[in-house]
Amino acid sequence: MAVTIKSSREIELMREAGRILAITHEELGKAIKPGMSTYDIDHLGEEIIRSYGCIPSFLNYQGYPASICVSVNDEVVHGIPNKRRIIREGDIVSLDAGVIYKGYHSDAARTHAVGEISKEARRLIDVTRQSFYEGIKYAKAGNHLFEISRAIQKYVEANGFSVVRDLVGHGIGTNLHEAPEVPNFAQKRKGMKLRAGMTLAIEPMVNAGHYDVCWCDDEWTVVTADESLSAHYENTILITEEGYEILSLR
Ligand code: MF3
Ligand code: CO
Repeated sequence: MAVTIKSSREIELMREAGRILAITHEELGKAIKPGMSTYDIDHLGEEIIRSYGCIPSFLNYQGYPASICVSVNDEVVHGIPNKRRIIREGDIVSLDAGVIYKGYHSDAARTHAVGEISKEARRLIDVTRQSFYEGIKYAKAGNHLFEISRAIQKYVEANGFSVVRDLVGHGIGTNLHEAPEVPNFAQKRKGMKLRAGMTLAIEPMVNAGHYDVCWCDDEWTVVTADESLSAHYENTILITEEGYEILSLR
């Protein structure tokens, strides 16, 4: 599928989708406590999304059975919420959520600390989040996609962590996943030239150890191959002539 350039009407709808998603993440971040199950988090997230008249993007997407992906510790992404999976003090929990507002998607992820966490876990969360900001310094009409990818990788590796190779960011709009793919690592190709009106979900997934990942038997949950911790940070952004606008933050 070709890359789509959004009209000002479409951008307006994606701003609203992003605003609601930002609120959802803020509320989930405040609610997260030791003793909750990953199912409790999903349930609350779905309630918040629906309370704004939105549909959870992920529910039933290619058979995914929940609204929020809840990935704990060495789980990288796509953890399936479960009543028996209880989060504990010291865990790190990545929440990935998407909403559909009037046919337009927004997609964002945050990694939260549950109570007190190790210094290394804190640093992993901070470096992952900052790598997104290092990347979008290059988000501007006329630049090439690989400048974003390269900046993310460079920052992560300079901090001693690794960027997952098997999963990438993506274009977004009337579909959750649209062209182009947005890798978090440099490739030989320069990638596409960015144009104003492109909307992208940029989502570094960062491992404390090696970048290799495996898929679990549930066919969704992705874990680090070496069982090291992993963090995720994602926002939906709009490319403009001057730079970018982050749609899934307030
Ligand atoms: N942010 C993730 C992505 O871009 C969410 C998809 S999870 C799924 O792929 F459950 F919807 F597949
Ligand atoms: Co995404």
